[in-house]
Amino acid sequence: MQKIILDCDPGHDDAVALIMAAKHPKIELLGITTSAGNQTVEKTSRNALHLCQHLGLDVPVYKGMRIPMVREQEIADSIHGDTGLDGPVFAPLTRMVEPKHAVQFIIDTILASDGDVTLVPTGPLTNIAMAMRYEPDIVPKIKEIVLMGGAYQLGNWTAAAEFNIYVDAEAAYVVFTSGVPIVMMGLEVTNTVLCTGDTVTRMEKIGNTASKLFADMMHFFLKTNKEVFDMDGGPLHDPVTIAWLIDPSCVTLKEMYTEIEIRSNLCYGRTVCDYFGMTKKPPNSRVAVGIDQEKFWDIVESCLRLY
Ligand code: BDR
Ligand code: CA
Repeated sequence: MQKIILDCDPGHDDAVALIMAAKHPKIELLGITTSAGNQTVEKTSRNALHLCQHLGLDVPVYKGMRIPMVREQEIADSIHGDTGLDGPVFAPLTRMVEPKHAVQFIIDTILASDGDVTLVPTGPLTNIAMAMRYEPDIVPKIKEIVLMGGAYQLGNWTAAAEFNIYVDAEAAYVVFTSGVPIVMMGLEVTNTVLCTGDTVTRMEKIGNTASKLFADMMHFFLKTNKEVFDMDGGPLHDPVTIAWLIDPSCVTLKEMYTEIEIRSNLCYGRTVCDYFGMTKKPPNSRVAVGIDQEKFWDIVESCLRLY
């Protein structure tokens, strides 16, 4: 059983990661913290609550930072819509976020732990970096950070940068220089797990609340990914983190020294990954370089079947 905090900005692919993490017997989801990313933190928090309410999940949701550490907020409504999770229709919300701030929850949970809690950020890294700066004593107690973000090749928000890292690159800088072991699921891998119409049909056949929700979300997500990226499917970026925690054999990782570019205009937010070890600096990250597609989709399906 792996104890995790899911720090997310749902977000269609975040929502799938949440669905997968909440019920899998290998994962203990201690709490959901929300970040501003795909939409404002008000909206991503509402979406997290909607998901929990709709699926009957008894997991606390903590609202996080409203704005990045240095830059103005940017959102990805072109992909995730006005609500941040367009597509499904939810019943009116009766659940509320916890009174505690997400950053405080992360700090308290890590400090009280035996060093066995993994952080799983699937949005910008603002909450994690703020927690590290607010209470540096947590840093050596974080077991690992398994994040979706970055790319060692092409970006998806600028030519150089991936969205999650670009939105708060200063936060990413803090995290990547912290010394905490990092597993980075970047675009080279996450862009290859494309949810197509056939995938939706496969998952819809399960015929439960989660599979219906998956289909409702994916119909919208497939459409916007076609419009914006001309992709023939919706990349399930964020669920790669959870799939790897469930079965590490589904993703191939390579150790690299990774630095975050925060000073450049053109390349702001780039994860500069030393793929060939040219800097001779000790690796601070394990970066995804391959994924077993069949295993990945089997894991997604098995998670949906748990509802
Ligand atoms: C990342 O950006 C967001 O839009 C997705 O939810 C994912 O976390 C992919 O670049
Ligand atoms: Ca996300």
